[in-house]
Amino acid sequence: MASPLTCVAIYERPVRVGIERVWENVRDWEHLPWLHGGSFRAIDLVDEADWGWKARIGLQPGDGPEILLELVIESDRRYVSRTLEGAAAGTEIWTTLEPRGPDLTDVRVEFHVPDVPEGAADRIGVGYTALYTKLWDEDEEMMQWRSTQLARRGVAEAATVDLGPVEDLRARLPRVVEFAGRPFRIVTDGDALLAHAALCPHMLGPLDGCAVEDGAVVCPWHGYRFDVRSGRQLAPSDRLRLAPAPRVVVEDGRARLETP
Ligand code: FES
Ligand SMILES: [Fe+2]
Repeated sequence: MASPLTCVAIYERPVRVGIERVWENVRDWEHLPWLHGGSFRAIDLVDEADWGWKARIGLQPGDGPEILLELVIESDRRYVSRTLEGAAAGTEIWTTLEPRGPDLTDVRVEFHVPDVPEGAADRIGVGYTALYTKLWDEDEEMMQWRSTQLARRGVAEAATVDLGPVEDLRARLPRVVEFAGRPFRIVTDGDALLAHAALCPHMLGPLDGCAVEDGAVVCPWHGYRFDVRSGRQLAPSDRLRLAPAPRVVVEDGRARLETP
């Protein structure tokens, strides 16, 4: 028989995005070891469907334990994640979502833990509350960024952008510039100047802070890797492509962005 569960804490907060963004985030198992890399080190999907998802998750720090976790969507306002195997197996985390407006959702999380030793509930509850504060802070930042980018899409602007004297430009790289309504980052690759899309084509994650290594950038949200010259996706598949980038043209000591 399953051990009785104790509710060790309740965590409540608003997140400043609509409920649609929150559900998207809940279904998005892939971001765990990237966006929440301080808490999770790896994830292997076992199953995924309309009901939710099930995955093996490696916990931090270092080579922390692996758990089998199932996230079940019970209604359009509530989901439950259950640890099926590994550390704290039997734990259930119940989350309720309440939409408060187009950009506001209230979140309530209850932590139900099995076999809580006498007098240990508060300490365990404090640990869960700290972890979930961090996870929801990270998620809120990601969801807000994505909301902003979605709202801006489709606003097209000029097809040539003057970048000023090329020596000044080089001294201030990398630099993000709007071109035809989208952000592009100008970087150097050897001696050459080039621009690449500053938004990830997967879920519009920010590529403007990524180091360019071996001619590629790795998105901080789910770890997809892209070649900055061709825009091709290099990992984990080759399905996606960065938005076509403008050329950096240098003439008479001045630089500009131009449609290729
Ligand atoms: S938004 Fe998912 S990998 Fe970039
Ligand atoms: Fe998350």
